[in-house]
Formats: sequence, C-alpha cells, structure tokens
Amino acid sequence: MRRYILAGNWKMHLDAQASADLVKALIPSVKDSTDVDVVVGPVFTSIPAVVEAAQGTNIAVAAQNCYWEDSGAFTGEIAVPMLKAAGCAYCIVGHSERRQFFGETDEKINKKAQALYKHGLTPIVCCGELLEEREAGKTTQVVETQLRGCLKDLPADKVRTTVLAYEPVWAIGTGKVATPAQAQEVHATIRALLVELYGQDVADAVRIQYGGSVKADNVKELMGQTDIDGALVGGAALKPDSFAAIVNFQK
Ligand code: PGA
Repeated sequence: MRRYILAGNWKMHLDAQASADLVKALIPSVKDSTDVDVVVGPVFTSIPAVVEAAQGTNIAVAAQNCYWEDSGAFTGEIAVPMLKAAGCAYCIVGHSERRQFFGETDEKINKKAQALYKHGLTPIVCCGELLEEREAGKTTQVVETQLRGCLKDLPADKVRTTVLAYEPVWAIGTGKVATPAQAQEVHATIRALLVELYGQDVADAVRIQYGGSVKADNVKELMGQTDIDGALVGGAALKPDSFAAIVNFQK
C-alpha cells in the first residue's frame, strides 16, 4: 500500500510572512489527515518561516530547486546541505517551468536528484509532455526519455523512495485537467518502466503524483486511479481552504 502524498508547489508566490500565515491557517484543517503525507513548497526565502510555523505538525517542507555541488563559486545557487540545514525534507526537481524557462535538462535533474539522495532529502522528480507532443502521439516516448535520464545511475534502493510527478504541461495552470483515465494511462506506463528498470518490488513502492489543475472538485476521482498516489498542486495550494480540501480528499 502506497501512502498518498499531497504537495503544494507555491511557485514564485508569497513572501515569508504570507507563507507562514498560509501554513498556520492550514495546520488545523490538515492535522487529522495523518494517513497521508502533506508537503508545502515555498520560495527559498520563505523556507525558514515555513519550517518554524510547521514545527511539530504533519506538514513537511520542500524546496523548489537546488544545485548539485555542496558549496563553491556558483553565484545565485543553493546547495542541498543548505536546504537540509534549513529544514527541508523534499525538493522538487525538473518542474516543467524550470525545463521551459531555465534550461533544466534531464542530465541536470539527474545530478540534482543524486545530490538530494547524498544528503538524505527526497526528490520530487517531475516529467510531462507538451500539448504538441501529446497530439503527435509521443507522450509515452517523452515521459520515458525524461525519466530514464532523470533517474540514470540511481540505485534501486534510492529510487524506491523517490516521488515522481507526472504533470502534462498543457494541464499546468490552465484549468485543463487530464481526465482520470488519461492520467492513469501515463501513470501505468511510468510504473511499467519502473518495473523494467528496477523490478516489481521497487516499482510498487514508488509514489507517482499527478499534477496539472488539481482542485478540490477533481482530486478524489484522480486519486481513485490505481497508479495515482498523490498530487502536486500549484494554484489551488495557495489558499488554505482549497489545499486542505485536497489533502482531506478521503474525508
Ligand atoms: P497547477 O500547477 O495546479 O496550478 O496547474 C501544478 C504544478 O505546476 O505543479
């Protein structure tokens, strides 16, 4: 049985004060959902305030990016040990916005995932096809290539704890959610790839989130699919009520 993981990706929203306020508002409404993992991903400068506000609760903190070297002359980057010291347990890597606007490649994502494992953080590795790729019938090919590249050389015992997020790019921030059947089809393909690469046992353990216009009113049906084990939520994670409703989808 895989444990659901509901994560909010706050993107470049909310300063430290607003981030702490959001967490404080969230705590009472998600505190009883102890059978799922709850994660929030603020901007770097909000991490300390969010970690402090979430202390002693069931809310864990994710960074939205990292660099793979431990320290050095890399102006503007943030190292994994720094994220760990700040209290992050997870880090999102390879989000489509980073691929699209910041030159993130599968090779870079792989280095980031390796660095995260080295320091005991859990990567949330994102993948997903563009609309034109889906329309050209290339979804499977695109997602498989991304994941083979992102997970390259990672040992099976590390992959077992990785969180994957399938986010069709055409569904992100557009209100155009993939149907549960469309999402399940790709999730099943991803699971089959994991079986091929690491065996059934590891594949059964890996949690695969769906992301792209997840809302309180569509989350339940998506989570009901066999291979969907959580959600990576953008817009609907910025309000305590809507994110709480997503976290509490089983209630
Ligand atoms: P959205 O974003 O929920 O606003 O579509 C999802 C994401 O980018 O992770």
